[in-house]
Amino acid sequence: MQFAIVIMAAGKGTRLKSKRAKVLHEAGGKTLLRHVTDAARQVVPPEDIYIIVGHQAEQVQSSLGRLGVNFVRQTEQRGTGHAIQQARDAVSRYENIIVLSGDAPLIRPETILQMRDFHLAQRSSMTVLTAFPENPFGYGRVVRRTEDAEQVQAIIEQKDLTPEQTSMGEINSGFYVFRREPLYAHIDELESKNAQAEFYLTDMAGILTAAGERVTAIKAADPDEVLGANTMEEMMDLDGRLRRRSAQILMSKGVTIFRPETTVIDADVTVGADTVIEPFVQLLGETKVGQDCRIRSYSVIENSTLGDRVLVRNGCTITQSTIGDGAFIGPYAHLRPDSEIGEGAHVGNFVETKNVRMGKGSKANHLTYLGDAQIGSQVNIGAGVITCNYDGVNKNPTVIGDRVFVGSDSTLVAPVELGSGSYVAAGSCITEDVPEDALALARARQTIKPGWAKMRRAKHTK
Ligand code: UD1
Ligand code: CA
Repeated sequence: MQFAIVIMAAGKGTRLKSKRAKVLHEAGGKTLLRHVTDAARQVVPPEDIYIIVGHQAEQVQSSLGRLGVNFVRQTEQRGTGHAIQQARDAVSRYENIIVLSGDAPLIRPETILQMRDFHLAQRSSMTVLTAFPENPFGYGRVVRRTEDAEQVQAIIEQKDLTPEQTSMGEINSGFYVFRREPLYAHIDELESKNAQAEFYLTDMAGILTAAGERVTAIKAADPDEVLGANTMEEMMDLDGRLRRRSAQILMSKGVTIFRPETTVIDADVTVGADTVIEPFVQLLGETKVGQDCRIRSYSVIENSTLGDRVLVRNGCTITQSTIGDGAFIGPYAHLRPDSEIGEGAHVGNFVETKNVRMGKGSKANHLTYLGDAQIGSQVNIGAGVITCNYDGVNKNPTVIGDRVFVGSDSTLVAPVELGSGSYVAAGSCITEDVPEDALALARARQTIKPGWAKMRRAKHTK
């Protein structure tokens, strides 16, 4: 049976007091809407997903990139019922429609499927997902039918509750399944005679019940899943929950995370078993970490791939880079975009790399800048070596062959090539290519003046 998923994401989110549309705010490393869309994509193919956009529509659409989902415009935001009215033509070929709120990012695909299956088993025209949160304030409340508790009489918004009704604890999550035919047969009966002068989708519960259609409710297994955010404080609470969820998933797969409450792990990060993550580590974006690694405190790793048995010591920043199996990084190394560190390589203290390919077993252990460089295997880069890759106008490449030894404090003025097996004497400023197996010495010759220091001291003590 074909289902469409409609995600409502056209609202502004006035209560956040932000210039940015609410669904574009980030929690757990992704926008709220991206979380909901990713959950939807686990349930139906992207061509069956319809996102209602209105406020900052262009930004909302482009935030989802090329996922292949559809967009429906709601040019004026006149309420959730009005939002679903706009989708009438777009979803006309489906038998059932799942409606999700773009501002409730904790929803899991399992829960969407449960709601769908319940809806089908109950042969309902409308099913609403409900929960009993600690504090129901602000949510719409679900009134069950007295003669059959499985069925819903109506949903009443917080602002429209009578004082006696405020004690009702079962809330509307904002997630629903509808049979398309009765939904659109009755949706034009919605009125905006309410506290917010909006067309409430929630009123469909009362309208369909009155029309003799079956409206049912299913309770979410985890009440947290329905949480949204209306204030920044609530947004950061969602962020904490999403990151705790990521850490819990990783721990259930054999990853050790010391003090998980201090780590910041985005939802799409993967980590292999037996890897240890120390306190205050951030793993962001699409980062992938292999097995048996150790990530020490205060390292921030973003959109990068680490092999197995990699050691990242304290305080490293690693962005859009790849690190081979068994490599050692840091402490305090900065791997900027497009650094490819080979198997077993060492990148040590205060080393900065950018657009570098470093071969197997090569070492740059101390105080070095390597930019736009291709470095072979088993190379030794001495302390303080600098690739001078920028001439003020262009970036130029440095090519270093296998088994090259670059003495400490050398500068390599690019474009320049050091042939395999060559040797650069410490303190050299290399401006010309060095042939294979040659020694390059490019520094002033040392002079010795015997007794000079003693004479100077004598002059000054006079
Ligand atoms: C809604 C429900 C409430 C429920 C709560 C759960 C209604 C009337 N109320 O209230 O019962 O407890 O969700 O979180 O539905 N949107 C549009 N177009 C609009 C208005 C809203 O696309 O014209 C989108 C918003 O961007 C948002 C979602 O619909 O993603 C929900 O709208 P919101 O205004 O946040 O509704 P709530 O007040 O939270
Ligand atoms: Ca909301």
